[in-house]
Amino acid sequence: MSALFTEFNGVAFKNPVICASGTFNFGEEFKRFFPLSRLGGISLKGLTLEKREGNDSPRIAEVYGGIINSVGLQNPGLEGFLKDYLPSLAQEDTVLIANIAGNTVEEYCEMAQRLSQTDISIIELNISCPNVKKGGLAFGVEPKGIESIVFAVKKHCKKPLMVKLTPNVAAISDNALAAEAGGADSISLINTIRAMAIDAKTRRPVLACITGGLSGRAVKPIALRMVYECYKAVKIPIIGLGGIFNAEDAVEFMLAGATAVQIGTANMINPMAAVEVIDGLERFCYDNNIKNIKEIVGGLII
Ligand code: SIN
Repeated sequence: MSALFTEFNGVAFKNPVICASGTFNFGEEFKRFFPLSRLGGISLKGLTLEKREGNDSPRIAEVYGGIINSVGLQNPGLEGFLKDYLPSLAQEDTVLIANIAGNTVEEYCEMAQRLSQTDISIIELNISCPNVKKGGLAFGVEPKGIESIVFAVKKHCKKPLMVKLTPNVAAISDNALAAEAGGADSISLINTIRAMAIDAKTRRPVLACITGGLSGRAVKPIALRMVYECYKAVKIPIIGLGGIFNAEDAVEFMLAGATAVQIGTANMINPMAAVEVIDGLERFCYDNNIKNIKEIVGGLII
């Protein structure tokens, strides 16, 4: 068996490398670079019940060490996804994760219910998008709110439920515990960190929405710290993301407690990033005589 084979929430992954929601769209654009079957999984672009055009442009600002996005969940809506994207995605030999966002608890529940009847393997509850007025962070900041939305959605969700946490909070481990108490099967973290960019020449904000979410290399130490804190707090699997660009970064997240990792902003700079992380992890196992990558999860020496 491959040294990278892993499993969590009853789902088998050929490797622990998943492309992160919002950085990989529905995979189509990446097929000319590598077969999607190389990936452990894909967390698909965040879906809402109705189609969304997203926020006004400019909605991406390049900054030192990363990008700030205020995309605003542009997506074809649940119907459009089921009709135009899922049939071909379902032919791919990789784990499909649907990332869902709603304006109301009822919308989250409806999407979870409908996606539970499809080829999607895991549903990732996005209660951490900083770029929408309704939904997003409104549900994801307070532990009580997290527990109650997870509890409500769980009743309608027949697939494993992964909850994506925001880092824009005082104590991430309290929120991880709340997700676990609500019935989450796993958690993913971190989503982006609220940030802004200013153009000194024009004296204006770079983004039309003024603020957005920072991702990329700059956030990695923060994400690592948060994965480490959550690993000490909860028993459910943790999927780590935030500035992972190579296999060494992935190993660091796994040592901090991540069962699997997601590759996000790196995909936008190097479309082969996820495959390079997979190849690098394979070499890492071989060089260190590791039979299975699971051996290193939580293996940080203090
Ligand atoms: C966006 O589409 O605004 C980004 C998604 C997210 O932050 O969850």
